[in-house]
Amino acid sequence: MEKPIIGKQSYKQLWFVIFVSFVFCLVLLCLDYSALPGAKNGVSFLVHSFADALNTQKTNQLVPMDKTNETIAPPPNFTRSYINEATQDFPALENNVTLSNARRENKIQDVGDQQSSDDRKREDPCAGKYIYIHHLPSRFNTDVLKDCRMLVKWFDMCPSLMNLGLGPKVVRPQGVLSERNWFETNQFLLEVIFHHRMNQYKCLTDDSSVASAIFVPFYAGLDVGRYLWGFNTSVRDSSAYDLVNWLGKKAEWKRMWGRDHFFVAGRIAWDFRRQTEIQSNWGSRLMSFPESMNMTMLSIESSSWSNEFAIPYPTYFHPSSDSDIIRWQRKMRSQKRRYLFAFAGAPRPGANDSIRGEIIKQCLASEETCKFLNCQPGGNKCDSPVEVIKVFRDSTFCLQPPGDSYSRRSTFDSILAGCIPVFFHPYSAYAQYKWYFPKNYTKYSVYIPANEIKDCTVSIKEALSRFSKDRVLAMRKQVVKLIPKTIYADPRSRLERLEDAFDIAVKRVLKRVEKVRTDTKEGKDPSVDFAVGNRWKLKLSGIVGDHPLDQFF
Ligand SMILES: *[C@@H]1O[C@H](CO)[C@@H](O)[C@H](O)[C@H]1NC(C)=O
Ligand SMILES: *[C@@H]1O[C@H](CO)[C@@H](O)[C@H](O)[C@H]1NC(C)=O
Ligand SMILES: *[C@@H]1O[C@H](CO)[C@@H](O)[C@H](O)[C@H]1NC(C)=O
Ligand SMILES: *[C@@H]1O[C@H](CO)[C@@H](O)[C@H](O)[C@H]1NC(C)=O
Ligand SMILES: *[C@@H]1O[C@H](CO)[C@@H](O)[C@H](O)[C@H]1NC(C)=O
Ligand SMILES: *[C@@H]1O[C@H](CO)[C@@H](O)[C@H](O)[C@H]1NC(C)=O
Ligand SMILES: *[C@@H]1O[C@H](CO)[C@@H](O)[C@H](O)[C@H]1NC(C)=O
Repeated sequence: MEKPIIGKQSYKQLWFVIFVSFVFCLVLLCLDYSALPGAKNGVSFLVHSFADALNTQKTNQLVPMDKTNETIAPPPNFTRSYINEATQDFPALENNVTLSNARRENKIQDVGDQQSSDDRKREDPCAGKYIYIHHLPSRFNTDVLKDCRMLVKWFDMCPSLMNLGLGPKVVRPQGVLSERNWFETNQFLLEVIFHHRMNQYKCLTDDSSVASAIFVPFYAGLDVGRYLWGFNTSVRDSSAYDLVNWLGKKAEWKRMWGRDHFFVAGRIAWDFRRQTEIQSNWGSRLMSFPESMNMTMLSIESSSWSNEFAIPYPTYFHPSSDSDIIRWQRKMRSQKRRYLFAFAGAPRPGANDSIRGEIIKQCLASEETCKFLNCQPGGNKCDSPVEVIKVFRDSTFCLQPPGDSYSRRSTFDSILAGCIPVFFHPYSAYAQYKWYFPKNYTKYSVYIPANEIKDCTVSIKEALSRFSKDRVLAMRKQVVKLIPKTIYADPRSRLERLEDAFDIAVKRVLKRVEKVRTDTKEGKDPSVDFAVGNRWKLKLSGIVGDHPLDQFF
């Protein structure tokens, strides 16, 4: 018998048939798309490879993986089936939402035309959620952006305003970031991002009388940022003073004396809490005006006042769909991490109290286990999303010591990279982002009291080495679960089911205003507890972990 001779050409064809069958099997078996090695979009890779393979018959050349485009939408059930993974922590909430929707739909069918107004109210998915955006004169927001070169004393903010405030798109993700949705976002642009998110909020109303809450789109931080250095107090206060006067004269104000109003400041509260007229005192008085004390104020770092709430700093990832987030979460969950810990920052030699010097010392001393990203002026690595995320995704723990203030944008960069944050002061996060983080801080973070660093009684390396592999995995899982809640989605699109930092903020504000309304109806004085000073204790109430926090209040 003659041996069949397989020529070079037919050998290739046979190989091609095997390859195609293999691809088909994979597709038909509905494999775990996002788990494919190197494929940021497994489906697209497969389908393109298939198409490419057909062409290959002629060219005998396979298209490299990185040339494939993300043009194929994920299968319709992709989001649905993985949604629980992203929000495991909040199954009750999800269920409740679903339930009330289901109830609403049933009702529409059952009752038909004979609804009472009460029913109609229940059926309006926006009932209790309507928000009215105050039509502020442009001097309070968009005009401020016109002078974008003057917004911060030391650098040109103009490029950061691109893409609705998300900043320039990252053009070279370098295999570190996913292909889309990454921007060089400036940490002070939350006001612009939030405003754009609000513009596409699903329950906006142009009739302020039906609104549950009133959003005041004042660019507070960008406004005062121009005058923080080298300007007298009257210049620093002028827009803020102008704003509260303007608000106070409006019909919307009189309805609840401003208690349904809220605004967002993209700088820390300390920049708006000047208590005296002494010129050398820092900041403006925006947050201490009597009108402000009737409003709810959101910022990236709150002070101890009870009408202030901290919401996440904007970081670099601004996804446009649930699946973008879920894919990134999976990537971060399975990421190999070669450093035990990392620190991205600069020393504060001028601040005697700063523990940063000691932290950098300890990091440099354990070169094998710690990665230090030096953010001293001159280097620009710390402004590069690729550089920052590369360090954090390669590290198990990320140190977040206070800097100029308690909180840091870096905290949100580290969560985004699935790196477990290590805090040294409870005001850095536990007393701040209560709407976002679990009450039990040991679930998602490590706390090393600053004194222990100052007294040199603790080795960070030893402290962090003590966590078992299982504990680390459990903590990372929690951190990765926080990703959707602590990022701001791209305002040009809409997430389907996941809630981002904006959604959570809006929900909580509505809840707070609702409480004021209920209290008023019940004859209670709404001003009681609305804006009370020195409330760190309140802000830390319910927070539990492995160290008592009592010494801080
Ligand atoms: C892939 O993306 C590039 C750039 O976005 C585009 O020019 C090209 O047409 C796309 N190719 C396909 C097959 O969609
Ligand atoms: C999507 O999921 C639903 C319920 O889980 C199922 O009934 C439906 O057939 C699925 N659709 C596809 C295209 O797989
Ligand atoms: C879900 O609804 C139930 C009953 O209405 C309520 O007791 C529970 O607190 C709700 N859970 C959440 C997370 O809202
Ligand atoms: C504050 O500075 C502005 C201009 O920089 C000046 O016009 C104004 O008179 C100063 N006000 C006071 C109280 O010094
Ligand atoms: C703040 O609200 C109270 C009522 O709760 C009201 O009496 C007071 O006038 C308001 N303040 C301002 C500045 O509008
Ligand atoms: C820092 O320490 C130096 C020397 O010990 C002292 O002169 C200075 O006043 C201190 N600064 C602060 C802000 O405490
Ligand atoms: C907090 O979480 C940790 C880790 O999951 C757990 O061991 C501890 O018991 C929890 N503490 C409280 C007070 O719930």
